[in-house]
Amino acid sequence: MATVRVGPPSRGLVATLGVPGDKSIAHRALLLGALAEGTTTVSGFPGGGDVLSSLGAMRALGARLELDGDTVRIEGAGAALGGGGRVAIDCGNSGTTMRLTAGLVAGGAGAVVLDGDASLRRRPMERVAAPLRAMGATVETSEGHGPLTVRGAALRAVEWTLPVASAQVKSAILLAGLRARGTTCVREPLVSRDHTERLLGHLGVRLRRAAGSIEVEGGQRLAGAAVPLPGDLSSAAFLVVAALVVPGSELCLPDVGVNPTRTGALAILRRMGAAIEVAHTHDVAGEPRGELRVRSARLYGTTITPAEVPGAIDELPLLAVAAALAEGETVISGAAELRVKESDRIAALAQLGLLGVALTTGADGLVIRGTGGRRLKGGRVLSHGDHRIAMAFGVAGLVADGGVEIVDAGAAEVSFPGFFARLAELGAAVEGA
Ligand code: S3P
Repeated sequence: MATVRVGPPSRGLVATLGVPGDKSIAHRALLLGALAEGTTTVSGFPGGGDVLSSLGAMRALGARLELDGDTVRIEGAGAALGGGGRVAIDCGNSGTTMRLTAGLVAGGAGAVVLDGDASLRRRPMERVAAPLRAMGATVETSEGHGPLTVRGAALRAVEWTLPVASAQVKSAILLAGLRARGTTCVREPLVSRDHTERLLGHLGVRLRRAAGSIEVEGGQRLAGAAVPLPGDLSSAAFLVVAALVVPGSELCLPDVGVNPTRTGALAILRRMGAAIEVAHTHDVAGEPRGELRVRSARLYGTTITPAEVPGAIDELPLLAVAAALAEGETVISGAAELRVKESDRIAALAQLGLLGVALTTGADGLVIRGTGGRRLKGGRVLSHGDHRIAMAFGVAGLVADGGVEIVDAGAAEVSFPGFFARLAELGAAVEGA
């Protein structure tokens, strides 16, 4: 799928539909299932490129994993995971695979080389290498980037304060801490997604959690378990904003994860005027899920503060598209992390200007002046090989005269396989998917 054009549908988007399973939890279920003793069964597996990278990584480290439909059955390797020799792992486009696996193998035997595609090779890895070195592992980077070589060692516990909120770095340290002597403590400046903590608890690990810190005692064993995944809120969010901006829409998305460390975008959209209901909320395997119901709405600009950034980090490109259609100005600040995601997302979002949106970009954010509900101009944009940029501009295409042509739209496949076909099913004018 090289280039896809998305144009406005002739009617509102009205449907009840499922979204792929949660990618973030899926990575963790694969890694923790591989480290556990016994069988872990992951159902609702999303199957995009990123989680397949983690699946391949765990196989390379010696766990047995079988993918059957949307279920992965894992026979954990326990303490033997990654035992001995030199293992080369291709993490593809997935930062979560690279950073979490680095933590997972830091206390194992042997050397593990973690590499990835051109985008992943540009992303900062020193943030994960430094704490693992402090614990006793040998970690080589290529001037702060991948490929990473991790030589495992007998680890000692560490107390680590993250300079920037990052669930990936926090998780890497906790995973290394499981294999370290003593109690490892991670402090975070702002709360980041807590799927690792919740899943560790589900697999029998005791953690001490307080405001801003998590402690784990080394030497605990994980017991395999069933891990049914909720739908991915970060994938559902694209459909939510699609419904908000296409007049006459009404979407119902059952069984979506609504972990409060992930729902920042819903709160921001509500503040912008959206009516989004979450019904039938209940917990499964330590994670809350519920049914999202959303109708089109008039949106207003807002200020997204630095404190709100971690809870909405992956949705910021999409919120920028919502802001582009809102009435008034939206300010996003404290989001310098956007520059080191799968692409420089601030630079990629500047392409909203090609669609007739007035915006300015800064080192750590954007200011967007919305059209007040008026359609965007049609145009051609690049995904920069970034799934969330490809999908955010796909949503923009739904309300752009003549549509939006997205170059390298196939990038979407790493997290939401079939996204553009899904828009077509909903009635959008989609060519090339
Ligand atoms: C993720 C954490 C976030 C997020 C990424 C997935 C995770 O990254 O942007 O898409 O699964 O832990 P950071 O930890 O770098 O903020």
